[in-house]
Amino acid sequence: MMNYLQRKGVQVNRKKLNHIAEAYYPDTIAVVNCSGIGARSLGGVEDTMVYPTRGQVVVVKAPHISENRMFWGKDSATYVIKRPYSNDQMILGGFLQHGDWTPDTLKEQSDDILNRTTKMFPKILSDNIHGPNIEDLEVLRVVAGLRPSRTGGVRIEKQNFQNKILVHNYGASGYGYQSGYAMGQEAAKLALATPKL
Ligand SMILES: Cc1cc2nc3c(=O)[nH]c(=O)nc-3n(C[C@H](O)[C@H](O)[C@H](O)COP(=O)(O)OP(=O)(O)OC[C@H]3O[C@@H](n4cnc5c(N)ncnc54)[C@H](O)[C@@H]3O)c2cc1C
Ligand SMILES: *[C@@H]1O[C@H](CO)[C@@H](O)[C@H](O)[C@H]1NC(C)=O
Ligand SMILES: *[C@@H]1O[C@H](CO)[C@@H](O)[C@H](O)[C@H]1NC(C)=O
Repeated sequence: MMNYLQRKGVQVNRKKLNHIAEAYYPDTIAVVNCSGIGARSLGGVEDTMVYPTRGQVVVVKAPHISENRMFWGKDSATYVIKRPYSNDQMILGGFLQHGDWTPDTLKEQSDDILNRTTKMFPKILSDNIHGPNIEDLEVLRVVAGLRPSRTGGVRIEKQNFQNKILVHNYGASGYGYQSGYAMGQEAAKLALATPKL
């Protein structure tokens, strides 16, 4: 996505902001605030409705699988996502831990994930050329992340900030990849509906 935008002439600057005001240069017309979980602490109306939903995944090499599977409960999620064009990487998950800020990965959770996913989708083990046991799977890495959740759901909203436009677009929780494109369209629509633009 970033490569696409850069080809269209968009310039990218990377910078940590302590306050949203730092995003405004003298000639800035609008700022879109997409700060995810960082939003909770960003100065200038900190949003305490934002909270983390921690997850952990195990990435394995699985040339023998080309499907996705998932089983979604209210507070649990077991899923298998094969990543296309990734040199056969497959994501095994997962966890949905509301309010948990733990950045580390936990061995116990990896074992649980391997147990649940292989039980849900036995082909992961039965068709593995290296053997039929969990220990025969080639684990590439284990990752933990904090989904940017928000009580009340996403916030896509326009407001006035020191007489300039501020559009909020955050709180995508565990759906940012699936809904981010449409959320972006909504946010852009709000910004473009302003006469000054
Ligand atoms: C384990 C796990 C599994 C997931 N599975 C899925 C899935 O299956 N499907 C799906 O659609 N989504 C999934 N997601 C969710 C997805 O990753 C998020 O919804 C998405 O990344 C949110 O995008 P965002 O741009 O709103 O926030 P982020 O990706 O969090 O981006 C926010 C950005 O703001 C920057 N930032 C924050 N504060 C500041 C500051 N003060 N100054 C400067 N920069 C700042 C951060 O550095 C970051 O780059 C999963 C997430 C996790 C953790
Ligand atoms: C920017 O968004 C974050 C959430 O991502 C929110 O906490 C914060 O209040 C927003 N900033 C302003 C100035 O509204
Ligand atoms: C995973 O399954 C094995 C074998 O059934 C069991 O011994 C182990 O306790 C399980 N681990 C977790 C974390 O559930």
